Amino acid sequence: MRNHRSSSYTSLVNGVNLFFFLFVFHLHPQSSASTLPKEALPTKSGYLPVNDTTGSAIFYAFYEAQNSNHTSLSQTPLIIWLQGGPGCSSMTGNFYELGPWRLTPSLRKNVNHLELQPNPGSWNRIFGLLFLDNPIGTGFSIASTPEEIPTDQQAVARHLFIAIRKFIALDPLFKSRPIYIAGESYAGKYVPSIGYYILKRNPLLPHSERVNLYGLAMGNGLTDPATQVGTHALHYYNLGLINEKQKIQVEKLQFEVVNLAEAGNWSGAADVRSNMFHFLQNVTGLASLYDFRRYRPYDSDWVEKFLKNPEVKKALGVNESMVFEECSEVVGEALYADVMKSVRHMVEYLVKNTKLLLYQGQCDLMDGVVSAESWVKKMDWEGIQKFLDAERDVWNVNDVLAGYVQKSDNLSHVVVIGAGHFVPTDQAVNSQAMIEDWVLDRELAIYMDDIQMLEITCMKMKGKREPSAQP
Ligand SMILES: *[C@@H]1O[C@H](CO)[C@@H](O)[C@H](O)[C@H]1NC(C)=O
Ligand SMILES: *[C@@H]1O[C@H](CO)[C@@H](O)[C@H](O)[C@H]1NC(C)=O
Ligand SMILES: *[C@@H]1O[C@H](CO)[C@@H](O)[C@H](O)[C@H]1NC(C)=O
Ligand SMILES: *[C@@H]1O[C@H](CO)[C@@H](O)[C@H](O)[C@H]1NC(C)=O
Ligand SMILES: *[C@@H]1O[C@H](CO)[C@@H](O)[C@H](O)[C@H]1NC(C)=O
Ligand SMILES: *[C@@H]1O[C@H](CO)[C@@H](O)[C@H](O)[C@H]1NC(C)=O
Repeated sequence: MRNHRSSSYTSLVNGVNLFFFLFVFHLHPQSSASTLPKEALPTKSGYLPVNDTTGSAIFYAFYEAQNSNHTSLSQTPLIIWLQGGPGCSSMTGNFYELGPWRLTPSLRKNVNHLELQPNPGSWNRIFGLLFLDNPIGTGFSIASTPEEIPTDQQAVARHLFIAIRKFIALDPLFKSRPIYIAGESYAGKYVPSIGYYILKRNPLLPHSERVNLYGLAMGNGLTDPATQVGTHALHYYNLGLINEKQKIQVEKLQFEVVNLAEAGNWSGAADVRSNMFHFLQNVTGLASLYDFRRYRPYDSDWVEKFLKNPEVKKALGVNESMVFEECSEVVGEALYADVMKSVRHMVEYLVKNTKLLLYQGQCDLMDGVVSAESWVKKMDWEGIQKFLDAERDVWNVNDVLAGYVQKSDNLSHVVVIGAGHFVPTDQAVNSQAMIEDWVLDRELAIYMDDIQMLEITCMKMKGKREPSAQP
């Protein structure tokens, strides 16, 4: 989703950070290692060409699993991360959310600047983690011409498929590894699209060339926009953020969006949806619709500041002349008419063929829990009633409430407490527990010491319900 950054306080603070950051860099050009220390370098990074004729290519940064060995590596799952937007770089996911090193402001020697700190909730603890700047034109990815930037999900998936297969070909050990694709926000479109594309294309390829897809995860996703847009008025009203008169105004806008989408006026529908969010931002006075608790927006723009540093670019294998933007307006324009188009039919196909995880931070007002549940219950899938009837379990991590889990067959739904739109930023360790348990089909949340494990086993034996469930 597009960012809503309107707080002058944030730009002031970030301006100060940027100033000192550049100041430090220019004073000590050789000390750039302190901005991207060797131990924080990706295992591999660079480009995966998607069109040899034009030279367009997808930028990637890959981090091998922290706990693995050469023997087990050929079976260690690989997680591919796709950022939303449309047009936002997965480097936000990498350096601000779920990567092994996250940006944080530091106060050292009276100089305020950004530095990388190890992330205790990194998603590469036991899995390989691959960030792709998707589609071309996003982040460090290269679009040779603006015309080549995808304008629909089919074209997005075609490029991603080429890039993923090129990545797998980089190392013989990658070939047999189970692949999971995860993403956030607008990637609620990309993840089903590439999943669908893989399942349709795989049977046409020899076994050795197939993509070993094992599952798909979507966090705070936009997947079935015309259904999701209908949930905001009541959601905001029930939170006490708008009054009844404003609720009626928002309902009118929602209705208009749906009508325009049904008439196939996709840009018009996207315009009115965007007006609706501006109205909600305006009347609620919130710093960000991504998290109703925040007094200032997410600081994801730190990533842009960091990646403007030529030394950092060089270390990542990027040409120093590349200009990094957190979100590309050109890509946003190219996919603008795609915003309101649904991919629910793809999810309906996927859930019959692979496992799916839908998770949302509870405090998101853009693509939150209510918004996700609104389209899930409309799914045309034989397992849907069983899913809707399934118990919603309390989910604990380290004996502390982490959220709720509902699961049936191939579909898991997790609500993450204490998180907004960027779940891994807000709940790093819990998000790690969630993804690891889901990938490994674990019954219990991890990070329990043996005593806790024993207690749970005992409770189970006494026929009590275990305090933790599998996301
Ligand atoms: C590569 O680009 C050329 C020129 O735009 C286009 O005709 C061709 O279809 C592209 N190939 C792929 C695989 O997208
Ligand atoms: C490597 O991983 C395999 C499979 O998990 C395990 O059996 C083996 O003991 C590990 N070897 C080392 C040296 O850790
Ligand atoms: C699409 O909707 C917008 C907003 O209502 C409107 O201004 C525009 O004329 C419509 N376009 C078409 C082709 O109907
Ligand atoms: C909302 O928008 C109106 C005009 O469009 C403006 O006068 C008002 O100050 C805005 N309110 C807030 C809280 O930003
Ligand atoms: C970086 O890009 C510029 C402009 O496109 C080009 O002239 C230069 O050769 C590139 N440098 C490298 C090292 O590829
Ligand atoms: C779940 O996915 C598996 C393939 O992984 C499939 O065989 C099964 O039929 C699916 N279950 C449902 C209820 O669709």
